[in-house]
Amino acid sequence: RRLSHVPSNAPALKSATSEDLAHFSKILPQTCILSTLPSLNNTPSTTTIEELAPFNNDWMNKYHGKSEMVLRPRTTEEVAQIVKWCNEKRIGVVPQGGNTGLVGGSVPTKNEVVINLANMNKVRSFDPVSGILVADAGCILESLNEYLAPHNHIVPLDLGAKGSCQIGGNVSTNAGGLRLLRYGSLHGSVLGLEVVLPDGTILNQLSSLRKDNTGYDLKQLFIGAEGTLGIVTGVSILAAPAPQATSNVILALPKFDNVLPLFTKVKRQLSEILSAFEFFDREVYDLAVKHNQGRALNADDVEGAECFVLVETSGGNREHDEAKLNALLENLLESDEPLINTGVLSQNPAQFASLWAIREGLTEAVSKEGKAYKYDISIPLKAFKEVVDTTREHLRSQGLLRHDAVKNVVGYGHVGDGNLHLNIVAAAYTPEIEAALEPFVYELVGKYKGSVSAEHGIGVMKTHALHYSKDEVNIEWMRRIKNLFDPHGIMNPGKVLP
Ligand code: FAD
Ligand code: MLT
Ligand code: ZN
Repeated sequence: RRLSHVPSNAPALKSATSEDLAHFSKILPQTCILSTLPSLNNTPSTTTIEELAPFNNDWMNKYHGKSEMVLRPRTTEEVAQIVKWCNEKRIGVVPQGGNTGLVGGSVPTKNEVVINLANMNKVRSFDPVSGILVADAGCILESLNEYLAPHNHIVPLDLGAKGSCQIGGNVSTNAGGLRLLRYGSLHGSVLGLEVVLPDGTILNQLSSLRKDNTGYDLKQLFIGAEGTLGIVTGVSILAAPAPQATSNVILALPKFDNVLPLFTKVKRQLSEILSAFEFFDREVYDLAVKHNQGRALNADDVEGAECFVLVETSGGNREHDEAKLNALLENLLESDEPLINTGVLSQNPAQFASLWAIREGLTEAVSKEGKAYKYDISIPLKAFKEVVDTTREHLRSQGLLRHDAVKNVVGYGHVGDGNLHLNIVAAAYTPEIEAALEPFVYELVGKYKGSVSAEHGIGVMKTHALHYSKDEVNIEWMRRIKNLFDPHGIMNPGKVLP
């Protein structure tokens, strides 16, 4: 398909210089600046390239930037002053949270200035009656949950990267995660944002109102904008009441075809207490075991299993919830044609955590095994296995399914959200493997009228694939919005838009 673009009037961006460094030194203390640039009087920097490496390289070590300057502001006002200067000088900036993103959005493509939000890590307010939490964007997701625990609330979002990712990064990627099925998308639970716009203006939308129909809901534009429209500095979010009782079980299935009837049955029987329904195939489970993610299930329990589903319940009454879950398991095991071989039910908090550790550890297991090509796609549930198998067969037909090229083709994901994570684990990232996978995978997604990015975003990885999921009119209006907010194109250049 041909793409027509609204012409971008953004001139070429400049690199930060020693003069810019001197200016930023007036805004921030030295402890908040990391730069390899010399000072104005030519004193060489004591900062090394290695010290900048964690900010220049992404979590997968797939995308590499060459930034010479990382700024770590402590307040919204400091962010605003930095951004205003960069806008005037036409210096590109990359907003960075926990740098756990999986599409290369959080690292520079060239030598843009990285604005890392880690020093903005304070809870601003929490109202235990309404459940409304207002926090700096740099708060780590897990820390927010620790803050909320004594108040019997939780952040309505959970993901394997919770120990490193920041709420501002979650909002900026519109992260989905493990319990979207229960708590819905951030487009619903985020009540307001504070954003530094590309010209340095502070857009204060930090509403703590549940309802506010006063015209255009601007905050929605920044949810999932991946730092291309501004820097999120504060987030107001509706925390959920902490469940009084939680339980989980890993179900081993003899064949993938059983996943859908199982989902239907589980939804019907568990109804309001179902909080997660997560799928992973046998091959990725074996990788999790190999790389010590969680405790391996007993050999008897996994024998003959083609895939697994982790079901979680969260509710208000332990007895009632356990009775419901036990009734479901009995019903599943005792039917004439059981949908499952067996179920491994957690009996205490340690086992509960261990079952989740298997599922949450899949990303890490895959990364320990090799270099992962990650395709985070929305497709009809019934096509999950077909897409994994078709991709594997395609790679085999290209002669690439060998130990020194592609080692594994695996699938896991959020069944409740129609979101498959197709992962191709290779010995190395090579142009040959990439050419075999793209556009092949995107065309497959197109065939199912799916989405090329269900929850990870576009970043730098998928700008060329955006058109598989958005038509020309959509892309044109996205570009107009980008130009309106960021006419000089300084904000996360090279990301999202082709
Ligand atoms: P970063 O990686 O730092 O940045 C991500 C993007 O947001 C970049 O484009 C960056 O420029 C922008 N950004 C970051 N902070 C700001 C800000 N304050 N203002 C403006 N822009 C900003 N994702 C899911 O959706 N579901 C999952 O289940 C999930 N599980 C994961 C498990 C693991 C082990 C890992 C490594 C990643 C996982 N991810 C998942 C992907 C990733 O963690 C999420 O996308 C997360 O929300 C990114 O947050 P971050 O703070 O690390 O952001
Ligand atoms: C997950 O669901 O585990 C995450 O989205 C990360 C991944 O895709 O590996
Ligand atoms: Zn996911």
